[in-house]
Amino acid sequence: MEQGAYKAKSHYQSAEIASEYDDERFNSWHGRAAHRTESEALETAAKLYFREPGTLLDIPCGTGRLFPVLLSRGLKITGGDISAQMIEVAQKKYGANQHVNFRQVNAEKLDFEDNTFDYLTSYRLMCHLPPEIEKRVLNEMIRVTKKILIINYHFACLSPLYLFNSIFRKQFCPVRLLKPKELAEQIKLRSDVELVAIKKLSWYERSSALVILRKK
Ligand SMILES: C[S@@+](CC[C@H](N)C(=O)[O-])C[C@H]1O[C@@H](n2cnc3c(N)ncnc32)[C@H](O)[C@@H]1O
Repeated sequence: MEQGAYKAKSHYQSAEIASEYDDERFNSWHGRAAHRTESEALETAAKLYFREPGTLLDIPCGTGRLFPVLLSRGLKITGGDISAQMIEVAQKKYGANQHVNFRQVNAEKLDFEDNTFDYLTSYRLMCHLPPEIEKRVLNEMIRVTKKILIINYHFACLSPLYLFNSIFRKQFCPVRLLKPKELAEQIKLRSDVELVAIKKLSWYERSSALVILRKK
């Protein structure tokens, strides 16, 4: 793998992987439970922090798995992803919706002006990134957002689900676990954004959390 590359960047750039993503990941009993937990956590956070209507960048949007939650808040969604194949699957589901559009983009260097979107959501990306790329991606996410960001991070924490996954489930892409303190320190160094909250997804999935950031 070339330097700075990581598996999740190329893994999903495949028609076969993209077409099987929803079914393969979220159709088993534990996949459905994970999807429900992630959707409910996003719904709760969106109710609290996306109070006014506005524009939102969901990156990476993948197959548009979390669009129903965002559409129910009346938001205008731009789905961004590096994989044209994942976007194609999302487009089949949401292409006709006038509140949804898509852009093939690299989160490491977003092709948008500063403060383009009111809000930003990101699920299941940060945990796949090497530390330097993760910082670059976070900078880009903050740069293009005007108000609130809801970002899914995976923190070092021995939760029941983490143990279950490590023993019984094949991880497609390696997951890097961060310490909440490391992230808080990274945010503290910035003058343009504040850490509002870190919300664990559930009692059994305590390593996965939503990090809420507010642009100053
Ligand atoms: C595990 S999927 C998550 C998709 C969606 N957020 C979800 O939760 O279902 C990871 C996604 O990250 C995308 N991805 C990886 N690196 C990226 C990058 N640098 N810029 C944009 N998307 C990227 C992949 O193409 C893939 O769609």
